[in-house]
Amino acid sequence: EHVKILAFAGSLRKDSYNKKLLKVAQALLPSNATMEIFDLEGIPPFNPDLEPPEIVKTFKAKIKSADALLIATPEYNYSIPGVLKNAIDWASFPPNDNAFDGKPVAVISASIGMLGGARAQYHLRQIFVFLNMIPVNRPEVFVTFAHKKFDENGNLMDEDAKKFLKQLLENLVNLAKLVKIGKEMKIL
Ligand code: FNR
Repeated sequence: EHVKILAFAGSLRKDSYNKKLLKVAQALLPSNATMEIFDLEGIPPFNPDLEPPEIVKTFKAKIKSADALLIATPEYNYSIPGVLKNAIDWASFPPNDNAFDGKPVAVISASIGMLGGARAQYHLRQIFVFLNMIPVNRPEVFVTFAHKKFDENGNLMDEDAKKFLKQLLENLVNLAKLVKIGKEMKIL
C-alpha cells in the first residue's frame, strides 16, 4: 500500500543542510512511499487574529492529506528555529482543526555542531506531545559537522547517517501503515 509523506525543513536558507538532508531522504525512500517537500518560505508571523493566509491553508491541507510527516530541523540556540515553530503554530490552530492530530512523524537534523541538532530534536518531540502526534523513536538521525558532510551536489558523505536515515524512513512508513489500519478500525 502506498504511503504519502510530507516533509519540511525548519530553515529558509538557500543552501540549508536540513533542506539537503530532505533531498537525501527522498532518494532513500522505500519503494511504496513518495515524499513531497514543502518550503516554509512565505509563511507570515502567526497571529490568531488573522484569517489564515493561502499558504497556511495549503500547508494544512497537505499535512492532513499526508500519511506521515518528516521534519528536518536545524538547532538554533539549543532549540528549534522560530521559523519552524511559527509554521507549527499556524498549522495546529485552531485547536479543533489541528492538522497534526494523530499524524505519524519522524525527525531528523543537521547542524554544524558536534551534537547534530540533538537538543532541537528533543524540544520538537516535546511539541509533538501537545499536538498529539505519533513519533518514530528510532533510529535517531543526527548529521553532525554538517559543513563537512555534504558535497557540492548535496550528496551526504556520511554512510552511517545514510544507513540510519534509510531505516528511519522504513520505520516511518511501517508506522504510517499501522496507523492507517488503526484509524480504519477506529481504535486510533
Ligand atoms: C545556530 N547554529 C547552532 N548549531 C547548533 O548545533 N546548536 C545551536 O544551538 C546553534 N545555534 C544557532 C543559532 C543561530 C541563530 C544560528 C543562525 C545558527 C548553527 C547551525 O547549526 C547552522 O547555522 C546550520 O547550518 C543551520 O541549519 P541549516 O540552515 O543549514 O539547515
